[in-house]
This record gives sequence, C-alpha cells and structure tokens, in this order.
Amino acid sequence: MEFEDIVKQRRSLRSFAPVEVSDAVIRELAIAASRAPSCSNKQPWRFVFTRSKGALERIVGVLAPGNASWAKQASMIIAVWSQADLDCRTPDGRDYYQFDTGMATALLLLAATERNLVTHPVAGFDAQAARDVLALPTGAQVITLIMVGGRAQAIFPELKDWQIKAETEPSPRMAFEDFATIM
Ligand SMILES: Cc1cc2nc3c(=O)[nH]c(=O)nc-3n(C[C@H](O)[C@H](O)[C@H](O)COP(=O)(O)O)c2cc1C
Repeated sequence: MEFEDIVKQRRSLRSFAPVEVSDAVIRELAIAASRAPSCSNKQPWRFVFTRSKGALERIVGVLAPGNASWAKQASMIIAVWSQADLDCRTPDGRDYYQFDTGMATALLLLAATERNLVTHPVAGFDAQAARDVLALPTGAQVITLIMVGGRAQAIFPELKDWQIKAETEPSPRMAFEDFATIM
C-alpha cells in the first residue's frame, strides 16, 4: 500500500472482526514504532501488547463504559505508557515524553493499518486502574489504550447512532488555512 493510502485508510473504527495477531506481527509493529525520532534519542515509549482473554478482560474493565461497550470485541489491546524521566526536560521546563511517545504511536498505528488491522486509541479509561492492571512502576503514565482488531464486514450492532455515523462517514478535518500557515 502507498503511504498516502495507509494514512487515509487509518480510521478509529468501533467494529472489529476477530483476528490472530502473531508474535511476529507484534514485533513488526513495535519496531516500526521505535523508528520514531525522540529527544536525544531517549526512546521513552513503552508498549504492553495484550492478547490473552483474561488480560483483555481486565483492561476492558478499566475503560470508561462508553468505550468498554465496543472495545470488548478487540483481539488485542496495546497499552502505551511512558514517564517523564524517560525523556528530555528542557531547561525552561518542557517535557517531551508524551510527544515522543505519540510520534512512535502514530507509526505503530500506520504499520498496523498497512497490515489490515483496525486500531482505535482512547483516553477514556481510569489511569490508576490501568497502571495497577498492567503492574507498571510508580510514575508511569498510561497515555493511551489502543484497541486492535480485524476489519469487520458489518457494523457492530451495539453501536450508538453517532458511533455508526462516525464509522460510515469520512472523519472531518480542519481546513489547511485553519491549522497551517506559510511564512
Ligand atoms: C488521545 C486520543 C484519545 C481518544 N479517546 C477516545 C475515547 O475515549 N473514545 C473513543 O471512542 N475515541 C477516542 N479517540 C478516537 C478519536 O475520537 C478519533 O481519533 C477522532 O475522532 C478522529 O477520527 P479518526 O481517528 O477515525 O480519523 C481518541 C483518540 C486519541 C488520539
């Protein structure tokens, strides 16, 4: 697939088909993510790839109910975490761990899309409960949980009307002039 097509095809859908994600594919996704740039090459991103039924259920349990309702279909959930001291803090106080982890996550989403996987990152979860379920160290920040599945042939019947609309219509974007300037 061409890069532009991968970028366009990536959508945060809420209907998933079951899919087996192999260890080899997990490794490919992680390695694609790790090609991201980072401040002083600190590579602050950390990923937990969850596939077992029990672990998936525990993670779905920390999601906001509106997310759990569709996320329960996911074949894999990727917990993305980092912490401030894994990356640069500039002398004037700018922290880069979330930015750098976000860049790596974007590459991961695109690598997954190229492999015909559907990905949906969310912020709607209990961060403390997520840290506990994943047994992460103190100071760790779970930045997003990414639901992963195969492309579904049909809309998941439990979706609400606005979710069906989001699923079936193009995702709106700001006009170029509203977010970019050329000097
Ligand atoms: C940081 C972040 C948090 C998000 N949180 C949620 C969420 O809690 N629930 C949800 O259904 N979608 C969530 N989304 C998905 C966005 O709603 C989605 O990316 C946006 O509407 C654009 O649609 P697209 O990804 O299909 O282009 C989140 C996305 C990001 C990047």
